[in-house]
Amino acid sequence: MSQKKFIDILMLILFFFCLASSFLPEQSHKLTGIGFTSLIICHNILNRNFYKSFLRGKFNWRRMINFATIIFLAVSMLITIISGSALADYFSAPDLNWRSIHLGAAIVATVSLFVHILIHASRYIKGKIFYVASMLVFILAVGAVFGLPYLDRWFHTVKINRSEILRGEKLNLGGKILIVYFSRIGNTNFLGEVDAVSGASLMLDGKKIVGNAQMIAELVQSVLGGEIFEIQTEKIYPADYPQTTQVAKQEFLSGELPALVKLPTVENYDKIILIYPLWWSNLPKPVETFLRSSDLSGKKIYPIVTHGGGGLGESIDTLKSFTRAEIAEPLDIYSSDIPASRKIIFEWLKKS
Ligand SMILES: Cc1cc2nc3c(=O)[nH]c(=O)nc-3n(C[C@H](O)[C@H](O)[C@H](O)COP(=O)(O)O)c2cc1C
Repeated sequence: MSQKKFIDILMLILFFFCLASSFLPEQSHKLTGIGFTSLIICHNILNRNFYKSFLRGKFNWRRMINFATIIFLAVSMLITIISGSALADYFSAPDLNWRSIHLGAAIVATVSLFVHILIHASRYIKGKIFYVASMLVFILAVGAVFGLPYLDRWFHTVKINRSEILRGEKLNLGGKILIVYFSRIGNTNFLGEVDAVSGASLMLDGKKIVGNAQMIAELVQSVLGGEIFEIQTEKIYPADYPQTTQVAKQEFLSGELPALVKLPTVENYDKIILIYPLWWSNLPKPVETFLRSSDLSGKKIYPIVTHGGGGLGESIDTLKSFTRAEIAEPLDIYSSDIPASRKIIFEWLKKS
């Protein structure tokens, strides 16, 4: 086997390892990423003739598609490497949402890589086999576009450094502020250790699990100050994620309002920042219990919804249907974007 082919096969294997390792401990993803980047450099050195003959010869359709794919591949790979290095703190990166950039670029790179391989394979495989291979590439590409964000949303553990992400500019909104949040974490029976939790993406500060809504509450507090109140239900939700979704579904079907451990003294506050996860595209029932049990007339509610892709869902319409308080323009934050969301929260509060 030629040196070129050997490197290419190794690259392909490492690429899949790289994708898979994003769901394993951070160090393994970093190592496969560095290994893959080194092979990209080798691949380019071995294929340097491509650059020499770049503008020579005829430009037919096949060659143009090949060029376009290589450009897409090169740019997306470069962005994946830069954003990966930013996430790994290899350089002092500007304040951008590097996680989303990394995921988006990795998806484009995956699709471009499949097409790139198919174009090269078309030199050796013809007829029926080529159509089968094209079909396979198409399925893999669709799988990458939809599957990677899905896996990232539900199975990727987001590591955070609490003290670092809480740092930043402060804002004075005026009035007395109460930050109320409801989170699955804190209303379940797991012990705060990651091994005891199944399903859905988790946010970890060291070994400690942090609820998504809880993290947003702390981010809001780091911007505005104010008190934090956690909505806690008397009943305990299952540690198992799919089971929790079933319990919540039952609450929506029965209309049950889960009893709360206690209520905050809302009369002492003017502004309430209300943070909750989207549940079945709607407002979680425990949040409804809080809103229905508190006199919120004359107050202003600032809703922040954290979700796994569903945005605000119907939760704001539900909220408005029984609340007499003034409702500010809501903000929704995709769960994986929370660690990088302080600036977004700051800007939203500033214009609310
Ligand atoms: C019972 C339940 C139902 C959910 N339903 C949706 C949904 O309809 N749409 C969505 O985008 N995310 C949904 N999610 C995902 C959560 O909104 C998301 O993971 C959120 O960030 C979790 O916040 P938390 O860790 O503070 O509980 C659901 C989660 C649970 C537990």
